[in-house]
Amino acid sequence: MTLPDTRVSADVRTGDAGIPTAVPARVGVLGGGRMGAGIAHAFLLAGARVHVVERDAAAADAARDRVETALSRSSQKGVEIPDADTLIVGTDTAAFADAGLVIEAVPEDRALKLDALARIEGAVDGAAVVASNTSSISIDALAGSLTRPERFLGLHFFNPVPASALVEVVTGAATTPEVVGAATAWVEAIGKTAVVVRDAPGFASSRLGVALGLEAIRMLEEGVASAHDIDTAMELGYRHPMGPLRTTDIVGLDVRLGIAEELERAFGARFTPPALLRELVAEGHLGRKTGRGFYEWSE
Ligand SMILES: NC(=O)c1ccc[n+]([C@@H]2O[C@H](COP(=O)([O-])OP(=O)(O)OC[C@H]3O[C@@H](n4cnc5c(N)ncnc54)[C@H](O)[C@@H]3O)[C@@H](O)[C@H]2O)c1
Repeated sequence: MTLPDTRVSADVRTGDAGIPTAVPARVGVLGGGRMGAGIAHAFLLAGARVHVVERDAAAADAARDRVETALSRSSQKGVEIPDADTLIVGTDTAAFADAGLVIEAVPEDRALKLDALARIEGAVDGAAVVASNTSSISIDALAGSLTRPERFLGLHFFNPVPASALVEVVTGAATTPEVVGAATAWVEAIGKTAVVVRDAPGFASSRLGVALGLEAIRMLEEGVASAHDIDTAMELGYRHPMGPLRTTDIVGLDVRLGIAEELERAFGARFTPPALLRELVAEGHLGRKTGRGFYEWSE
């Protein structure tokens, strides 16, 4: 039996297929929240001019603060940071007109993303690549709102972006190999490692990560071991840098519950959220951000 290989071929990676593999000179980011600001920061450090577009002026100010804070942290670590005028923050998607790549990072809401992507496509040049940072919505479902789905794909960055080495490059049914090749090269040019994943619920990382997290919660429910000991088993026994329950606390129990529900719809009972997860979320114990999840978190 031959195992499927989703990796892009060497000739596509070297840019022979027509899309430059150097980081685009102009990059757009729609939504400058936690992820969008991190993505903007990564492309600024790689030498791109970055336009961040937010929903209103107050959100634009907050987005600017987030990117500038990230840049000043990099500067304190001795990283050379670009001139201030390479970051442009505004509220009008017309700013994306000359971008080679635009990434949407608005909240995880299908209708909002469909609208955001249609607005991006209406603003960009036909040669631009458009990407979504969705963590759980099908790339093919999002492509449904686009007239150029062949130039659309998922670029799933991880939180916090500056500290994360991974980006999942998620290929839709219509995404061309050239677009996948260029996007993979851009990810590598900003200093991260790309894994290429076919559009499937949970991609590679969330599906496996959530499966482990849900089983750990069931074990806690069944009294198999304490949260601390379940995590230690994975950290020392399997060399995971962090156990599944602590990871769930950091990601947010509400975020994990949302992804589990999406995966349950796709794969059935093996992703049914455990009662304990639902109870903690209903009580407002969402993990580190609320001070309590499977652990107590102090300031
Ligand atoms: N936070 C994570 O751990 C994480 C990890 C990977 C992927 N993601 C995905 O990244 C995306 C963004 O998540 P986040 O955590 O950065 O959310 P966030 O709430 O921090 O940021 C979203 C930003 O989008 C802006 N926004 C909302 N509507 C807008 C609109 N119509 N036009 C322009 N901007 C708009 C908001 O003002 C906000 O600044 C989601 O799809 C999420 O699933 C998040």
